[in-house]
Amino acid sequence: MKQLTALQVMQDAPVIPVMVLNDVAHAVPLAQALVAGGVRMLEVTLRTPQALACIEAIARSVPQAVVGAGTVRNRGDVLAAARAGARFAVSPGYTSAVGQACRDAGLALLPGVATSSEIMAAQEDGFTELKFFPAMQAGGAAMLRAWSGPFWDVRFCPTGGVTLQNASELLALPNVVCVGGSWLAPGDALESGDWARITQLARDTTTLRV
Ligand code: 3PG
Repeated sequence: MKQLTALQVMQDAPVIPVMVLNDVAHAVPLAQALVAGGVRMLEVTLRTPQALACIEAIARSVPQAVVGAGTVRNRGDVLAAARAGARFAVSPGYTSAVGQACRDAGLALLPGVATSSEIMAAQEDGFTELKFFPAMQAGGAAMLRAWSGPFWDVRFCPTGGVTLQNASELLALPNVVCVGGSWLAPGDALESGDWARITQLARDTTTLRV
């Protein structure tokens, strides 16, 4: 399968849903519901014991989706994610070890940064498409505006505290390509199997980009 670039992951839709899954039975219907709403780049966080099985299920059963792994923190996470069928990885912070492991495994990586030094470290290793995490807690749109001067060649996916309401301001910034957020996969909708609500939440985001 052709390797994706981080930019391709970011450009597909205005929002990358951040999914925390506790039940592997939710994975496929959730992915199908998001795809039905026009969202197909899906991040499953490696935060639950079921996460890898969920990635595997989506990779196998929802060919219209492109599944990635979130909360990737070390080389072991990268290898496990790639083995499960993830096509991209998202990390909360950046280390060269995670960057190299993703290159070795053929996974596109969106490395997380929250400071200028972290941006410089990621750039030194050749990464120019970065996740800004935790975005709203660490300065939000004002921080992204400040970074656009020295880091004019970096593009961001702000994640953390992003909502349907504040996403437009972020997406209007020239150095923002997409945002990430967990609001497209609310726990109560998963528990009650309200897939129609999830499709609607996804649909509501597809016209966000200006
Ligand atoms: C996370 O890693 O938890 C994501 O940044 C999601 O944050 P959110 O729940 O604030 O959207």
